[in-house]
Amino acid sequence: MSLPKRVVLVGPMGAGKSTIGRMLAKELGYRFLDSDRIIEERCGANIPWIFDVEGEDGFRQRETAMLDELTGEQGTVLATGGGAVMRPENHPLLKKNSVVVYLKTSIEQQVERTRKDRNRPLLQNDDPEAVLRRLFDIRDPLYTKLADIVMYTDRKSPRLVVRQLVNRI
Ligand code: S3P
Repeated sequence: MSLPKRVVLVGPMGAGKSTIGRMLAKELGYRFLDSDRIIEERCGANIPWIFDVEGEDGFRQRETAMLDELTGEQGTVLATGGGAVMRPENHPLLKKNSVVVYLKTSIEQQVERTRKDRNRPLLQNDDPEAVLRRLFDIRDPLYTKLADIVMYTDRKSPRLVVRQLVNRI
């Protein structure tokens, strides 16, 4: 069996993309990349600041440029932001040379895992659960369409998810 050139993790906020991605990379002997963190490093500012100053559209432009740049990175596990699937032009960038894994997670778990999080501008409102539901309805078909592997993460430890992924990749 030969390993894919890169593994790309997609899924909603609170799916565990960063936690699982880091552990999976270690297990495969790959480098871990997190597109949101690289955008923040390059920009010298955090995501709430980028949303504030440049709007969501400004952030999405940076995200597309970053995904484009990272298509060339091999031997990597890439954690993407939850909205990376929203722009159709991102789809070939996510798929190129990669196995795409959708970390599928219930709304309840997403709510639980993003509670009190100040770094996610889309959830800074009175009803983050309603936002997560709305985003799920729009994005779940896109994650599913792009995915080579759909992996459920509810009621599983990150360690178990990684073990199951290693067996399927
Ligand atoms: C977003 C998800 C975030 C981040 C930004 C927008 C989204 O990433 O990219 O706040 O649109 O769902 P995580 O999925 O890593 O939280």
